[in-house]
This record gives sequence, C-alpha cells and structure tokens, in this order.
Amino acid sequence: MKFRKRIIAGNWKMNKTVSEATELAVAIRQELAETSDVDVVLCPPFTALAAVAESLEGSTISFGAQNMHWEASGAYTGEISPVMLRGLYCHYVILGHSERRTYFGETDEIVNRKAQAALASTLRPIVCVGETLEERESGKHIEIVAKQVHGSLAGIAEADLKNTVLAYEPVWAIGTGLTASPEQAQEMHACIRKELAVLCSQDAADSVRIQYGGSMKPSNAAELLAQPDIDGGLIGGASLEARSFVELVKIAKERN
Ligand code: PGA
Repeated sequence: MKFRKRIIAGNWKMNKTVSEATELAVAIRQELAETSDVDVVLCPPFTALAAVAESLEGSTISFGAQNMHWEASGAYTGEISPVMLRGLYCHYVILGHSERRTYFGETDEIVNRKAQAALASTLRPIVCVGETLEERESGKHIEIVAKQVHGSLAGIAEADLKNTVLAYEPVWAIGTGLTASPEQAQEMHACIRKELAVLCSQDAADSVRIQYGGSMKPSNAAELLAQPDIDGGLIGGASLEARSFVELVKIAKERN
C-alpha cells in the first residue's frame, strides 16, 4: 500500500477576528512547530490570513483559505482570487464545502473551475464532497458522492490530482455532533478512491489523501484514522480551540 502522509486541517469558518486568530495560531504553533510527520493546515477567514501567515512563519504549519474565485482578477465585487492567495504564500484552499454548496449555490461545475484555477496557481485544493441525510436514507449516497467526485475533478491532469486533497464530509455530520461510523466513513472513502482510479489512474488514486470531516474530535478521531482509506481530518468546531486541535494532530501522528 502506498504511504500517504496524514493531513489535519482546521476550517475556522466565519470565526475569529484578527487578534483571536493570531492568538489561536500562536498557541497551536507553540505545541506543533516541529511537527513534520503530519501535514497541519490552518484555514482562517480571509481577513486573518496575513496575520496567521506571519504567526506561522518559520514553522512547519501551513495555512489555507476557505474559498476563492476562479478568475485571476476582474470585476467580481467581494471576491478573492487565487493570485491574491498565492501573494500571501497561501498553500491550500478549501473548495466546494457543503456550506458553500448549500448557501452560495456552488455546483460541481463551479468547484471544478475553482479547482483548475487553484492548481494553475500552485495552490493545493481541498475539495469537499458529501451527501445529505435525505440522500443517505434514499440509499443513493454512494452514487451521489461519486458524481460529485467526477464533476468537481473533471479534466484535472494526473500530476495535479496528486496535489489535490479530498474531504469526505457527510452533510448530516457537520457541526451536528453526529459522526459517520468508522465503517460508514471507510466505505465511502474506499468508493471515492475507486472513482479517482476511474477518473484518472490507480497511481493517482493511491496517492491522493482523503480527509474525513464532520464532528471529528479527539474522542472519535483514533477510530476514524485507523481506517485504511482515511488519511486525515477536516476539522470545524474542534479546530477553534488549540487544545482539541493539537490533540487531534497528535492522534493522527500516532496513527502514521
Ligand atoms: P465540524 O465541521 O467539525 O464542526 O463538523 C467540519 C467542516 O465543516 O469542515
């Protein structure tokens, strides 16, 4: 089996002012500055990106944005471009989070445009997919997530796909305290990997890291990360506090 370095990312969503974000980044850095066997990524809101970047300078911790537009510049009031993110030395960008899909109408086609643009700017996209409770109960969840994988990643070259991270986030588990069982998550992760092989190649499928997201916390992370196709976590609530986030990174380290 191919070695895949684990990746734990904190999605701070619309939380933290610049000073709060700085405080959190500094606290995380104090604990994890030397971490090199797990990729650690902090994704603050746009307004705090520069301050977090400064707080992390010289550490092994990376940072990313939570969204971006696909164009490099232009008349798109309120939007942020990949070029602007690279200008801040941003490494990652979360794309197609279910909150963006639900509240801001992002489709697979939009996510695909954004993913292509991110990769063209050497930003690593974290592409989110996942089904709603209704979709799971209808028994069509596998089919629905497979369609999201194909739609969001269409046309991406093999070398670029290897720089892409996927996040399986069942919508019903996000911020609800409900977590997919390790078996449910593993089943979906294995299916996603299978679809990546169909979409591109077995080698790419074996290289791409697939995170689980949805109420992951220190009490359930070890079991989830023990699954063969779960390569990390995209953490919302538990990333807003240094102690729980650091704990999650340590758990991921032990599971390497
Ligand atoms: P949660 O959020 O950990 O609060 O469920 C995860 C996410 O939305 O990325």
